[in-house]
Amino acid sequence: MAFWNRRKAIDTLTHHREGHRLIPTLGWPSLIALGVGATVGTGIYTLIGVGAGLAGPGVILSFVIAGLVCIVSALAYAEMSTLMPAAGGAYTYTYAVLGELLAWIVGWSLILEYTLVCSAVAVGWSVHAAEFIHAAHWPIPEALMVGPYAGGIVNLPAVLITAAVGALLIVGTQESAVVNMVLVVIKLIALAIFITLAGSAFDISHFHPFLPYGFSERGPDGVKVGVMAAASIIFFAFYGFDTISTAAEETRDPGRNLTIGIIGSMVICIVIYMAVAGAAVGASPPSVFSKADAPLVFILDALHRPLAAKLVAGAAVLALPTVILAFMYGQSRIFFVMARDGLLPEGLSRVNPRTGTPVVMTIITAVFAAALAGLLTLKEIAEVANAGTLCAFIAVAVSMMVLRMREPNRPRVFKAPVWWLVGPLAIGGCLYLFSSLPTMTIIRFFAWNAIGLVIYLVFARRSSLLGREAELEA
Ligand code: ALA
Repeated sequence: MAFWNRRKAIDTLTHHREGHRLIPTLGWPSLIALGVGATVGTGIYTLIGVGAGLAGPGVILSFVIAGLVCIVSALAYAEMSTLMPAAGGAYTYTYAVLGELLAWIVGWSLILEYTLVCSAVAVGWSVHAAEFIHAAHWPIPEALMVGPYAGGIVNLPAVLITAAVGALLIVGTQESAVVNMVLVVIKLIALAIFITLAGSAFDISHFHPFLPYGFSERGPDGVKVGVMAAASIIFFAFYGFDTISTAAEETRDPGRNLTIGIIGSMVICIVIYMAVAGAAVGASPPSVFSKADAPLVFILDALHRPLAAKLVAGAAVLALPTVILAFMYGQSRIFFVMARDGLLPEGLSRVNPRTGTPVVMTIITAVFAAALAGLLTLKEIAEVANAGTLCAFIAVAVSMMVLRMREPNRPRVFKAPVWWLVGPLAIGGCLYLFSSLPTMTIIRFFAWNAIGLVIYLVFARRSSLLGREAELEA
């Protein structure tokens, strides 16, 4: 079989030797908490301002579009993750359905996504932490509070939080469902406070004109603006539900619980986000709050609600690191699976026997994520992360459709409804969002994958476990 077409056997994907099987303990409430915990983060707390700057009040529409694309993608994810409850997510599904070359591209894009999400959330965290650092009069020079893009040297708080989460993972953290649940509740209470207070200052005149920058236009400087440009960045706020798929093996009655978990957390986020976006625009003209680094805190301050502003900033500082934790953990798992498949050096994925963490990989991820967080703007980082995620979502939807056609009778625990419509909607929606990203972001994404392709052709193709097995058989 040609190297690009080597595929993993679906039936053996989930074969685990006795003693290597995870015990299914998770029900849907824990899964919804996991999904909401990994999803609600920098997107809604910070990037809503960037979106409002690009689309004006039309940012509401951007939320709807990004949310709908995520719902149809989530349905494809639910089908594939219950069909193959194995580690590796989109990379593993692609390997089993579309072959090794495409799986490599997806895995390589996931590395981009996971590392950059860590950086982006760290930068979003730092703007909220700055509120407290300033209030406490800590003698940290301004040049160490922001990166070079804002006239500083390095965003030290963002670097430190990334390093701290990396250290936590290396020491070994018992993923605690209770702690996660508490932090999710804190984040949601903060958003509920915002919706209530900002909603009580609602002024409909802020919604006119609704589309000052159009639907999909270019500004005078050639930069993409309008609803779609904003949707391509707001998309960042919606993903994270995909991390639930990694828990498939530990889920009781996965057909039911995983579906409720993935779709449920998505629906909860869409409802909350729509309310936050509506309340934000109603309380403050988008042209004003879009200039703030921490828009929700800014709006509450402008409404003379300093205590609520502090509460929202405090909730962000306390709870956003869990998003970094979820993605850094996911990153180490992707590397682990790719190395187990022989596509990355095995040394990278060696697991510390005491903590169960791939130490080298976690350090490399944390160093890269911290460096990027220290030096780049949130918008730039989040856009490239979105490009990687969109690539993975497309691959999952394509895999779902190809497998439906190739093996229509394979037993499926969960079936995406009207798959022939859901699949193309997910693929088309993701492609449209991808094409709405800034041209520079698209170039960066392809440059990253060009590097990946060279590494695959020169090294990984030869070291692939499937490849070596095929050679032995020949
Ligand atoms: N959805 C996650 C966030 O907004 C990545 O932080």
